[in-house]
Amino acid sequence: MTIDNNFNKRQMKLIICDNYEKMSEEAALIVISQMKKKPGLVLGLAAGATPIGLYKLLVEANRRAEIDFSQVTTFNVDEYYRIAKSDPGSYWQTMRRIFLNKVNILEENINILNYSGNEAAEFCNDYEKKIKARGGIDLQILGIGRNGHIGFNEPGSDFRSKTRKVKLAEKTIQANAKHFRAKDEMPDEALTMGLATILKAKKILLLASGKDKAEAVAEAIEGPMTEAMPASVLQKHRNAAFVIDKEAGERLRVKKVGQS
Ligand code: GLP
Repeated sequence: MTIDNNFNKRQMKLIICDNYEKMSEEAALIVISQMKKKPGLVLGLAAGATPIGLYKLLVEANRRAEIDFSQVTTFNVDEYYRIAKSDPGSYWQTMRRIFLNKVNILEENINILNYSGNEAAEFCNDYEKKIKARGGIDLQILGIGRNGHIGFNEPGSDFRSKTRKVKLAEKTIQANAKHFRAKDEMPDEALTMGLATILKAKKILLLASGKDKAEAVAEAIEGPMTEAMPASVLQKHRNAAFVIDKEAGERLRVKKVGQS
């Protein structure tokens, strides 16, 4: 494992793990330590395949009573727009199936951007208010899209953006269509926390695994901070960590320096 706390002047932390399992374990250690420090943790969650291993480890830690979710509040970073809660492709369903139904979190403390009405702007505004009312997000877990999106903030998203309705990029539709029976069943719009919303989290933990993510990871960490690469906005954050596996790190220059 390579740990580089200060590999560039922007001070993000980078942990490169040997494989997916080790990445998940490393991420779980971080989440568990935050939960132990603050029982009423406000936890930002991401759906997608990458954090599944982390969530499995958190479920196990909860089962052996190492961590307790009874005072934890969660806010999911994104969701498809106008998707039924019952749709197996919805993040509302997925998050419950893989994680939330398996831990002792209270239903009223689960927040997901699932909305099918016409007042999306109002719904998103309320989501922002709810986050604020809970004291802000303590720890935000993120994945990264192949095009560098975080949440559903696609390339070109404003760094000042708040929670809002967005149009999905073709690359995202292609990558995520496998979760739906047919491509045309997949919504092409979504609700997502904005980049400014994400940046307000006190701590950010971005996970990435596999070669598919290598280019986005290298650009986000070592490239210029630009709205063309949404994850590069994390270079602004004082407490952001990338926990990735070797394959996702294979395009980084830093791995050549002091890798163990
Ligand atoms: C998806 C989601 C993100 C997720 C990212 C990576 O489209 N909107 O929340 O973090 O893209 O997904 P995965 O982990 O499945 O590669």
